[in-house]
Amino acid sequence: MGKITKAIIPAAGLGTRMLPVAHAVPKEMLPVVDRPALSYLVDEAADSGITDILIITNRGKDAIEDYFDYSPAYDAYLRGHSKTAEADCLRAIADRANIFFLRQKETKGLGHAVRRAKSFTGSDPFMVLYGDDVIISEKPVCAQLMEVYEKYRLPCAGVQEVSLDLVYKYCTLDARHVESNIYRVFTMIEKPRPEEIMTRFSILGRVLLVPKIYDILDSIPYGDGGELQLTDAMKKLAESDPEGGMTALDFEGRRYDLGSKLGFLQANVEQAVRHPEIGEAFKQFLIEFTAKL
Ligand code: UTP
Repeated sequence: MGKITKAIIPAAGLGTRMLPVAHAVPKEMLPVVDRPALSYLVDEAADSGITDILIITNRGKDAIEDYFDYSPAYDAYLRGHSKTAEADCLRAIADRANIFFLRQKETKGLGHAVRRAKSFTGSDPFMVLYGDDVIISEKPVCAQLMEVYEKYRLPCAGVQEVSLDLVYKYCTLDARHVESNIYRVFTMIEKPRPEEIMTRFSILGRVLLVPKIYDILDSIPYGDGGELQLTDAMKKLAESDPEGGMTALDFEGRRYDLGSKLGFLQANVEQAVRHPEIGEAFKQFLIEFTAKL
């Protein structure tokens, strides 16, 4: 089996939970300290051996393409003002992987966005990184999922147990423990009602999929709000084998939802404390600030 080298990052959503800022700034470009969410995702993919990344964008999201591009005039300005390290940093961002862009054209859900990548991924298995989910981990989460795929040869969802209020917003999985932090998945339900909750395992921003997903996406109906749900398609994958047609990995890592105001702030506070340049000063500020709360 060849290595997995392709990834899709859907980043075309409207970001209504992050209004008003998302009206002018793509939520996937919101910073965690000094780098946009998408930069963390590209690094995670590249650090996992992914060489080709397709970012699904939308009208009004040109800032994404600009970020991963060379800027000759700015480069010359920085180098001319003794800011070589800064110029090298910007170049390295653009060179981290082969990055391609495709517009979703119609904002019809995560499943619809992923379906746009069919000719990019071809007959290969591929990673999907949800564009507003930043995960900080020892080992990149993409690499963690790829290891599970190498062993089980099944599509794999990155999951963690979440609080009940988040299960209602995300999804619930019917999963059986197999070994260490790996499960077989029998079915899943997007945005479950209370009586439908099977476990508190929800999919958090990373899935490894196989081309069969495209046939399923073509065959299932659009769901709530006229959106084609990726979870509905993965449910079919999971149900395609009585032993569980997908695996789930309870991954190691701290996940932040940059598509929510609270997640955005949590990411910034927690990562600012660890930042090599401002960490110590920020920690001191926090101590003094929280003492007054
Ligand atoms: P979300 O459901 O969090 O994005 O999708 P959203 O629809 O923008 O959210 P709200 O509720 O309006 O705030 C997870 C990822 O999938 C992308 C989003 O950009 C996000 O990175 N997405 C979602 C698409 O690319 N296309 C879509 O049609 C929907």
